[in-house]
Amino acid sequence: MKILILGGGGREHAIGKKLLEDDPSIDLYFYPGNGGTSIIGKNIENHHTVLDLGFFSKKNTIDITIVGSEVFLLKGVVDIFQNFGLKIVGPHYLAAKLEGDRIFAKSFMRKYGIRTPKYKIFYCYEKAINFLKKNTNSIAIKTNGIAAGKGVFLTHNPNDAIEVLQNIMIKKKFGESGNQIIIEEFLKGNEASIIAFFNKKNIIPFLSAKDYKKIGENEQGLNTGGMGAIVPNPHMKNSIWIDFKKNILEPTLEGLIIEKLTFFGFIYFGLMISHNKVYLLEYNTRIGDPEAQTLFPLMKSNFLNVIQSSFQKKEIFFDWKKLCSCCVVLSSVGYPEKYESGKIITGLNSLQEPFYIAGAKREQEKWITSSGRVINIVETGNTIQEARKKAYDKVKKIQFDNLYFRKDIGL
Ligand code: GLY
Repeated sequence: MKILILGGGGREHAIGKKLLEDDPSIDLYFYPGNGGTSIIGKNIENHHTVLDLGFFSKKNTIDITIVGSEVFLLKGVVDIFQNFGLKIVGPHYLAAKLEGDRIFAKSFMRKYGIRTPKYKIFYCYEKAINFLKKNTNSIAIKTNGIAAGKGVFLTHNPNDAIEVLQNIMIKKKFGESGNQIIIEEFLKGNEASIIAFFNKKNIIPFLSAKDYKKIGENEQGLNTGGMGAIVPNPHMKNSIWIDFKKNILEPTLEGLIIEKLTFFGFIYFGLMISHNKVYLLEYNTRIGDPEAQTLFPLMKSNFLNVIQSSFQKKEIFFDWKKLCSCCVVLSSVGYPEKYESGKIITGLNSLQEPFYIAGAKREQEKWITSSGRVINIVETGNTIQEARKKAYDKVKKIQFDNLYFRKDIGL
């Protein structure tokens, strides 16, 4: 069995390690991959477009491709691979717009009665400014495109909101992503990530997760790709799960089927729990990173078997260990802005599993940092407290110059 995984972060390393744990005979391929994936499989080179990747997969008889990163989805990789007759896990381009086009996603939510914060769409700077001048409430301003995860701003007064708007619509700091914007009601509460598998008929949710998005402790500072995660999310109480299924998951499924947006792949519900009600902030059409690194160590089911069963149109379910997990992301000082790479990492060769490489490479038997997020340290335990203690004990074993991590993951 040959499997290709598309992406180059900790998430893709975690998917690969899980597949090999279930079946060590699998041959793994990654594009572009990283230093960790090059040890458990082959990082393929020189296939820069999704069409090139399609030719590669056909020629090398890849059995199944799993898309990790949205970048490939928004280039239509699923449509192209399906045209080649290749099996691929991920949404086709139109369904991936639920992640890549926020106005499309909000319109879908409105049409199918999916509970989401109130919003207004603006195509014109002057109209948006007039609205903002009269608004004194806290709001979220979002670019229509995902802008590499940087297009969401929370503001608490008109002056800050106007500055954000100028950056997006006049200075074009986010390029075409900001040609249209969404101004959304700001909800105070707790965020949760629910990742689910869609088999064209049902949406099967994984355990709940909590992502720590900001660079600083207590959610201060700039947005990042994620500085840590825990599973389960302590705010996803039973009543919230029931509310989520009724007001978000079920109408989403109905809408996907009616709009013919079905696919084999992942849906990520980015949720806000506010005053005991759950709201959908956004869809992603892939597994989250670092949620994946926190979820896979808890998955009991054979992941490949589930994927194969869904292609064979069989009933599927996921079985989970009755444990908690905690992931701490080790990054380079300066991330998510300017940071230095090329630092020697010590402690990695003898580190106990699970851990996942995000941005490090092997050079002459040495591990070297190569990106902003470097390593994901994960541990499991009977409680979040136990998992976090074990994870932070493991963090102490790793060292490199300019190492930074948040100390409040799981607190
Ligand atoms: N952890 C958030 C994301 O993957 O988008």
